[in-house]
Amino acid sequence: MPRIFITGSTDGLGRAAAGVLMGDGQEVVLHARTPERAAALSDLAPGAAGVVIGDLSSAAETQHLADQVNQIGRMDAVIHNAGVYLEPSRATTADGHAKTLAVNTLAPYLLTALIDRPGRLIYLSSGLHHAGAGSLRDIDWTGRSWDAGQAYAESKLHVTALALTLARVWPDVLSNAVDPGWVPTKMGGPAATDDLEMGYLTQTWLAVSNDAAATVSGGYWYHRQRQPPAPQARDPAFQDQLMDRLAALTGVALL
Ligand SMILES: NC(=O)c1ccc[n+]([C@@H]2O[C@H](COP(=O)([O-])OP(=O)(O)OC[C@H]3O[C@@H](n4cnc5c(N)ncnc54)[C@H](OP(=O)(O)O)[C@@H]3O)[C@@H](O)[C@H]2O)c1
Repeated sequence: MPRIFITGSTDGLGRAAAGVLMGDGQEVVLHARTPERAAALSDLAPGAAGVVIGDLSSAAETQHLADQVNQIGRMDAVIHNAGVYLEPSRATTADGHAKTLAVNTLAPYLLTALIDRPGRLIYLSSGLHHAGAGSLRDIDWTGRSWDAGQAYAESKLHVTALALTLARVWPDVLSNAVDPGWVPTKMGGPAATDDLEMGYLTQTWLAVSNDAAATVSGGYWYHRQRQPPAPQARDPAFQDQLMDRLAALTGVALL
Protein backbone atom coordinates (compact mmCIF):
# COMPACT_ATOMS: atom_id res chain seq x y z
CA MET A 1 0.00 0.00 0.00
CA PRO A 2 1.56 3.34 -1.01
CA ARG A 3 2.46 5.70 1.84
CA ILE A 4 2.05 9.41 1.12
CA PHE A 5 3.21 12.42 3.14
CA ILE A 6 1.25 15.65 2.59
CA THR A 7 2.49 18.95 3.99
CA GLY A 8 -0.15 21.38 5.18
CA SER A 9 -2.88 18.80 5.63
CA THR A 10 -4.86 20.69 8.30
CA ASP A 11 -6.84 22.69 5.77
CA GLY A 12 -7.70 23.34 2.13
CA LEU A 13 -6.26 21.25 -0.68
CA GLY A 14 -3.87 19.28 1.54
CA ARG A 15 -6.62 18.18 3.86
CA ALA A 16 -8.91 17.34 0.96
CA ALA A 17 -6.16 15.30 -0.73
CA ALA A 18 -5.50 13.45 2.53
CA GLY A 19 -9.19 12.66 2.92
CA VAL A 20 -9.56 11.27 -0.59
CA LEU A 21 -6.39 9.15 -0.39
CA MET A 22 -7.35 7.77 3.03
CA GLY A 23 -10.84 7.07 1.71
CA ASP A 24 -9.18 4.97 -1.00
CA GLY A 25 -7.33 3.00 1.69
CA GLN A 26 -3.90 4.61 1.21
CA GLU A 27 -1.53 5.21 4.10
CA VAL A 28 -1.22 8.94 4.65
CA VAL A 29 1.13 10.85 6.94
CA LEU A 30 -0.50 14.13 7.97
CA HIS A 31 1.19 17.40 8.90
CA ALA A 32 0.24 20.32 11.13
CA ARG A 33 2.22 23.45 11.86
CA THR A 34 1.75 23.22 15.67
CA PRO A 35 0.25 20.76 18.19
CA GLU A 36 -2.68 23.18 18.50
CA ARG A 37 -3.34 23.05 14.72
CA ALA A 38 -3.11 19.24 14.86
CA ALA A 39 -6.49 19.43 16.61
CA ALA A 40 -7.93 20.15 13.14
CA LEU A 41 -6.89 16.61 12.21
CA SER A 42 -8.80 14.90 15.03
CA ASP A 43 -11.17 13.22 12.54
CA LEU A 44 -8.45 12.06 10.11
CA ALA A 45 -5.63 11.26 12.56
CA PRO A 46 -6.99 7.94 13.91
CA GLY A 47 -6.88 6.44 10.40
CA ALA A 48 -3.58 8.03 9.38
CA ALA A 49 -0.11 6.47 9.24
CA GLY A 50 1.13 9.31 11.43
CA VAL A 51 0.86 12.99 12.27
CA VAL A 52 4.01 15.09 12.15
CA ILE A 53 4.33 18.61 13.51
CA GLY A 54 6.48 21.54 12.44
CA ASP A 55 6.32 25.16 11.36
CA LEU A 56 7.73 25.43 7.85
CA SER A 57 8.82 29.03 8.38
CA SER A 58 11.55 27.68 10.69
CA ALA A 59 14.52 25.77 9.27
CA ALA A 60 15.05 23.94 12.58
CA GLU A 61 11.40 22.84 12.76
CA THR A 62 11.47 21.83 9.09
CA GLN A 63 14.56 19.68 9.72
CA HIS A 64 12.85 18.12 12.76
CA LEU A 65 9.79 17.50 10.58
CA ALA A 66 11.93 15.57 8.10
CA ASP A 67 13.31 13.49 11.00
CA GLN A 68 9.77 12.67 12.13
CA VAL A 69 8.82 11.57 8.61
CA ASN A 70 11.95 9.41 8.25
CA GLN A 71 11.20 7.74 11.58
CA ILE A 72 7.84 6.60 10.24
CA GLY A 73 9.60 5.05 7.23
CA ARG A 74 10.16 5.66 3.56
CA MET A 75 7.37 7.52 1.78
CA ASP A 76 6.27 6.39 -1.67
CA ALA A 77 5.16 9.92 -2.47
CA VAL A 78 5.46 13.37 -0.94
CA ILE A 79 3.01 16.13 -1.82
CA HIS A 80 4.62 19.50 -1.04
CA ASN A 81 1.35 21.34 -0.56
CA ALA A 82 1.68 23.79 2.36
CA GLY A 83 1.97 27.40 1.36
CA VAL A 84 1.23 31.01 2.20
CA TYR A 85 -0.08 33.64 -0.18
CA LEU A 86 -0.20 37.42 0.31
CA GLU A 87 1.93 38.17 3.35
CA PRO A 88 1.42 41.83 4.29
CA SER A 89 5.13 42.33 4.91
CA ARG A 90 8.45 40.52 4.49
CA ALA A 91 7.64 39.05 7.93
CA THR A 92 11.25 38.12 8.62
CA THR A 93 11.54 34.63 10.10
CA ALA A 94 13.74 33.62 13.03
CA ASP A 95 16.31 32.56 10.42
CA GLY A 96 16.18 36.01 8.81
CA HIS A 97 14.28 35.05 5.64
CA ALA A 98 11.17 36.47 4.03
CA LYS A 99 8.35 34.26 5.30
CA THR A 100 6.95 33.63 1.81
CA LEU A 101 10.35 32.41 0.64
CA ALA A 102 10.84 30.32 3.79
CA VAL A 103 7.49 28.50 3.66
CA ASN A 104 6.93 28.25 -0.10
CA THR A 105 10.49 27.71 -1.36
CA LEU A 106 13.05 26.91 1.35
CA ALA A 107 10.86 24.41 3.23
CA PRO A 108 10.04 22.18 0.21
CA TYR A 109 13.70 22.38 -0.81
CA LEU A 110 14.87 21.34 2.69
CA LEU A 111 12.27 18.58 3.03
CA THR A 112 13.26 17.25 -0.39
CA ALA A 113 16.89 17.15 0.71
CA LEU A 114 16.26 15.63 4.14
CA ILE A 115 13.40 13.14 3.68
CA ASP A 116 14.52 9.70 2.48
CA ARG A 117 14.04 9.89 -1.27
CA PRO A 118 10.49 8.83 -2.23
CA GLY A 119 9.38 7.40 -5.57
CA ARG A 120 7.23 10.40 -6.42
CA LEU A 121 7.43 14.10 -5.65
CA ILE A 122 4.62 16.57 -6.26
CA TYR A 123 4.97 20.33 -5.73
CA LEU A 124 1.99 22.69 -5.55
CA SER A 125 2.63 25.51 -7.97
CA SER A 126 0.24 28.15 -9.31
CA GLY A 127 -0.58 29.74 -12.63
CA LEU A 128 0.81 32.88 -11.01
CA HIS A 129 4.31 31.38 -11.30
CA HIS A 130 4.40 32.78 -14.84
CA ALA A 131 4.64 36.26 -13.28
CA GLY A 132 7.65 35.18 -11.18
CA ALA A 133 10.23 35.30 -13.95
CA GLY A 134 13.28 37.42 -13.37
CA SER A 135 16.59 37.58 -11.60
CA LEU A 136 17.42 35.43 -8.60
CA ARG A 137 19.67 38.16 -7.21
CA ASP A 138 17.26 39.37 -4.47
CA ILE A 139 15.38 36.11 -3.98
CA ASP A 140 15.11 36.81 -0.21
CA TRP A 141 13.78 40.38 -0.55
CA THR A 142 16.59 42.07 1.37
CA GLY A 143 17.00 44.87 -1.21
CA ARG A 144 13.62 45.32 -2.88
CA SER A 145 10.49 46.95 -1.45
CA TRP A 146 8.08 44.24 -0.40
CA ASP A 147 5.60 43.10 -3.05
CA ALA A 148 3.48 40.24 -1.71
CA GLY A 149 2.10 39.14 -5.08
CA GLN A 150 5.51 39.15 -6.74
CA ALA A 151 7.04 37.24 -3.81
CA TYR A 152 4.33 34.59 -4.12
CA ALA A 153 4.74 34.36 -7.91
CA GLU A 154 8.51 33.96 -7.55
CA SER A 155 8.12 31.29 -4.85
CA LYS A 156 5.87 29.30 -7.16
CA LEU A 157 8.35 29.65 -10.02
CA HIS A 158 10.98 28.30 -7.60
CA VAL A 159 9.03 25.15 -6.72
CA THR A 160 8.11 24.59 -10.35
CA ALA A 161 11.79 24.83 -11.28
CA LEU A 162 12.65 22.56 -8.33
CA ALA A 163 10.20 19.91 -9.56
CA LEU A 164 11.61 20.06 -13.09
CA THR A 165 15.22 20.07 -11.84
CA LEU A 166 14.62 16.85 -9.94
CA ALA A 167 12.94 15.29 -12.96
CA ARG A 168 16.15 16.05 -14.86
CA VAL A 169 18.72 14.93 -12.28
CA TRP A 170 16.91 12.12 -10.42
CA PRO A 171 15.76 9.73 -13.19
CA ASP A 172 14.56 7.20 -10.60
CA VAL A 173 11.98 9.66 -9.18
CA LEU A 174 8.76 10.96 -10.75
CA SER A 175 8.77 14.69 -10.02
CA ASN A 176 5.96 17.01 -11.13
CA ALA A 177 4.42 20.41 -10.39
CA VAL A 178 0.67 21.08 -10.19
CA ASP A 179 -1.39 24.24 -10.62
CA PRO A 180 -4.61 23.46 -8.70
CA GLY A 181 -6.48 26.38 -10.22
CA TRP A 182 -8.13 29.17 -8.24
CA VAL A 183 -10.16 27.23 -5.70
CA PRO A 184 -12.24 28.24 -2.65
CA THR A 185 -9.97 27.40 0.29
CA LYS A 186 -8.74 29.62 3.12
CA MET A 187 -6.08 30.82 0.66
CA GLY A 188 -8.24 31.02 -2.45
CA GLY A 189 -11.16 32.77 -0.74
CA PRO A 190 -14.91 32.39 -1.39
CA ALA A 191 -14.86 34.15 -4.78
CA ALA A 192 -12.61 31.48 -6.35
CA THR A 193 -13.99 30.26 -9.67
CA ASP A 194 -12.37 26.84 -10.16
CA ASP A 195 -13.74 23.52 -8.97
CA LEU A 196 -12.35 22.54 -5.54
CA GLU A 197 -12.40 18.82 -6.34
CA MET A 198 -10.37 19.32 -9.51
CA GLY A 199 -7.96 21.32 -7.35
CA TYR A 200 -6.76 18.24 -5.48
CA LEU A 201 -7.44 15.29 -7.79
CA THR A 202 -4.36 15.93 -9.95
CA GLN A 203 -1.93 15.63 -7.03
CA THR A 204 -3.61 12.53 -5.60
CA TRP A 205 -3.55 10.93 -9.07
CA LEU A 206 0.13 11.77 -9.59
CA ALA A 207 0.88 10.40 -6.10
CA VAL A 208 -0.63 6.94 -6.47
CA SER A 209 -1.97 6.13 -9.92
CA ASN A 210 -0.20 3.58 -12.08
CA ASP A 211 -1.84 4.97 -15.24
CA ALA A 212 0.73 5.54 -17.96
CA ALA A 213 -0.34 9.21 -18.04
CA ALA A 214 0.38 9.65 -14.33
CA THR A 215 3.70 7.82 -14.16
CA VAL A 216 5.70 10.49 -15.92
CA SER A 217 8.19 13.04 -14.68
CA GLY A 218 8.91 16.68 -15.39
CA GLY A 219 5.32 17.78 -15.99
CA TYR A 220 3.52 20.97 -15.04
CA TRP A 221 -0.13 20.00 -14.62
CA TYR A 222 -3.54 21.66 -14.44
CA HIS A 223 -6.62 19.48 -14.03
CA ARG A 224 -4.73 16.33 -15.12
CA GLN A 225 -3.56 18.00 -18.32
CA ARG A 226 0.03 18.98 -18.97
CA GLN A 227 0.61 22.64 -19.65
CA PRO A 228 3.75 24.57 -20.57
CA PRO A 229 5.43 26.05 -17.48
CA ALA A 230 7.28 29.37 -17.54
CA PRO A 231 10.38 28.98 -19.74
CA GLN A 232 12.74 29.69 -16.80
CA ALA A 233 11.34 26.72 -14.86
CA ARG A 234 12.71 24.32 -17.45
CA ASP A 235 15.92 26.20 -18.22
CA PRO A 236 18.83 24.11 -16.83
CA ALA A 237 20.96 27.24 -16.30
CA PHE A 238 18.20 28.88 -14.21
CA GLN A 239 17.63 25.61 -12.37
CA ASP A 240 21.32 25.30 -11.48
CA GLN A 241 21.47 28.92 -10.30
CA LEU A 242 18.38 28.37 -8.18
CA MET A 243 19.80 25.19 -6.59
CA ASP A 244 23.00 27.09 -5.76
CA ARG A 245 21.04 29.96 -4.16
CA LEU A 246 18.87 27.59 -2.12
CA ALA A 247 21.91 25.61 -0.96
CA ALA A 248 23.56 28.86 0.13
CA LEU A 249 20.43 30.13 1.93
CA THR A 250 19.76 26.86 3.76
CA GLY A 251 23.26 25.50 4.21
CA VAL A 252 21.98 22.20 2.80
CA ALA A 253 23.03 20.87 -0.59
CA LEU A 254 20.32 18.94 -2.39
CA LEU A 255 22.24 17.78 -5.44
N1 LIG B 1 -6.35 28.01 -3.26
C1 LIG B 1 -5.94 28.39 -4.46
O1 LIG B 1 -6.69 29.00 -5.22
C2 LIG B 1 -4.56 28.06 -4.92
C3 LIG B 1 -4.18 28.46 -6.22
C4 LIG B 1 -2.92 28.14 -6.70
C5 LIG B 1 -2.04 27.44 -5.87
N2 LIG B 1 -2.42 27.07 -4.61
C6 LIG B 1 -1.42 26.35 -3.80
O2 LIG B 1 -2.01 25.19 -3.24
C7 LIG B 1 -1.41 24.90 -1.97
C8 LIG B 1 -2.49 24.68 -0.93
O3 LIG B 1 -3.26 25.87 -0.87
P1 LIG B 1 -4.66 25.95 -0.11
O4 LIG B 1 -5.53 26.78 -0.97
O5 LIG B 1 -5.11 24.61 0.33
O6 LIG B 1 -4.23 26.86 1.16
P2 LIG B 1 -4.82 26.89 2.65
O7 LIG B 1 -6.25 26.51 2.65
O8 LIG B 1 -4.43 28.23 3.17
O9 LIG B 1 -3.98 25.74 3.40
C9 LIG B 1 -2.60 25.88 3.51
C10 LIG B 1 -2.03 24.78 4.34
O10 LIG B 1 -0.62 25.06 4.54
C11 LIG B 1 -0.37 25.12 5.94
N3 LIG B 1 0.70 26.06 6.27
C12 LIG B 1 0.78 27.36 5.95
N4 LIG B 1 1.86 27.91 6.51
C13 LIG B 1 2.50 26.92 7.20
C14 LIG B 1 3.66 26.87 8.00
N5 LIG B 1 4.42 27.97 8.24
N6 LIG B 1 4.02 25.71 8.56
C15 LIG B 1 3.25 24.61 8.35
N7 LIG B 1 2.13 24.59 7.62
C16 LIG B 1 1.75 25.75 7.05
C17 LIG B 1 -1.69 25.57 6.54
O11 LIG B 1 -1.69 25.33 7.93
P3 LIG B 1 -2.77 26.08 8.88
O12 LIG B 1 -4.05 25.35 8.65
O13 LIG B 1 -2.20 25.92 10.24
O14 LIG B 1 -2.83 27.50 8.41
C18 LIG B 1 -2.66 24.72 5.74
O15 LIG B 1 -2.67 23.40 6.21
C19 LIG B 1 -0.49 26.07 -1.66
O16 LIG B 1 0.84 25.73 -1.94
C20 LIG B 1 -0.96 27.16 -2.60
O17 LIG B 1 0.06 28.08 -2.92
C21 LIG B 1 -3.64 27.36 -4.12
